[in-house]
Amino acid sequence: MSGKITFSLIKPYAVKMGYIGPILAMIHEAGFRISAITSTKLSKEQAESFYTIHKSKPFFDDLVEFMSSGPIVAMILEKENAVEDFRELIGHTDPEKAENGTIRKKYAKSVQSNAVHGSDSAENAIIECDFFFSKKERY
Ligand code: CMP
Repeated sequence: MSGKITFSLIKPYAVKMGYIGPILAMIHEAGFRISAITSTKLSKEQAESFYTIHKSKPFFDDLVEFMSSGPIVAMILEKENAVEDFRELIGHTDPEKAENGTIRKKYAKSVQSNAVHGSDSAENAIIECDFFFSKKERY
């Protein structure tokens, strides 16, 4: 399945603003199949663990605080070339630099509150999918 799956999160601010439906519609229209989905709220420890790769960054504590501040939606997405195609669909990390028509251009508020997360490699996609979903929860 390597290369055919990616992992995405809809972040707390986008959930709070009611953007789950519009974001899922964009994901569907772009040809991704949702093979697992759940709504949950991360504890601080879980957010730290999920973003451990960014532990040394100056924004780490704020990111953990933000990501554990409210419910999120986590999902596994399937498509050929999933990681790259999804990163193109979501756009630049900074919404001010995101291209027109991308999810972040439409729904992000700031670099931190950038509406969605998408895996940056096939290897990390597998790690991130396994963080949230067991085999029984994938269809
Ligand atoms: P995400 O795709 O979830 O991966 C790591 C997150 O860290 C990123 O989106 C942003 O929300 C956040 N991030 C990255 N760079 C910065 C930054 N310079 N300042 C604040 N947050 C950042």
